[in-house]
Amino acid sequence: MFITFEGPEGSGKSSQSALLADWLRQLGQDVLLTREPGGTAIGDRVRAILLDPACTEMEDEAEVLLYSAARAQHVGQVIRPHLARGGVVLCDRYADSTLAYQGYGRGLDLATLGVITAFATGGLRPDLVVFLDIDVEAGLRRKQLHADVDASQWNRFEQETLAYHQRVRAGYLQMAAAEPGRWLLVDASQPAEAVQVALRAQVGAALGMFFGSDVHAPSA
Ligand code: TYD
Repeated sequence: MFITFEGPEGSGKSSQSALLADWLRQLGQDVLLTREPGGTAIGDRVRAILLDPACTEMEDEAEVLLYSAARAQHVGQVIRPHLARGGVVLCDRYADSTLAYQGYGRGLDLATLGVITAFATGGLRPDLVVFLDIDVEAGLRRKQLHADVDASQWNRFEQETLAYHQRVRAGYLQMAAAEPGRWLLVDASQPAEAVQVALRAQVGAALGMFFGSDVHAPSA
């Protein structure tokens, strides 16, 4: 089963996906926790270019192709082999980030992005997209707090305007509304513990359906 985590900046994807991975392992699942851009040695090198605050002159088209190159490597080298072994893959960001950030955010043609993404992934789509939704300003404030601790975390995307991040969030909400069966909407403004409880309940139910097993959803 392939589950991706999406959301605006500061929505808590990395901590929530790590907690969910621990829980699924306790339930006996073979879990791979990974992230984009990155997840492979080649992908991490591409990631360094993409997130470098010094790379301000990057063309939008170059940006899409770099994300897609990293994704192609990730899918082929890591994600597909793990799924083929019957494992669960949890991925912090995936193709829907490209639609949200480069499509809705930057205004690139969504159909073209769909074609590029299908080529890069060989058509691999997540079974479930967990969308951790948070108000853009609240999310950026959360990230800014971290950035005060470690300035290197304040990347090229977080420097974008508020309007850009609002378009990204609106795009996510539109995609979630279009495919309610595949997207799981979680209110990420709640305390982290409550977010995790909601996640476990909903992902547990989806896993039960997926594997046809008796995977239960205990509380956090
Ligand atoms: P990262 O530091 O991993 O941020 P986050 O914790 O929010 O995931 O940086 C990833 C950034 O890359 C994030 O701002 C979203 C952006 N991004 C895209 O614009 N397109 C993509 O296809 C992906 C995967 C990420």
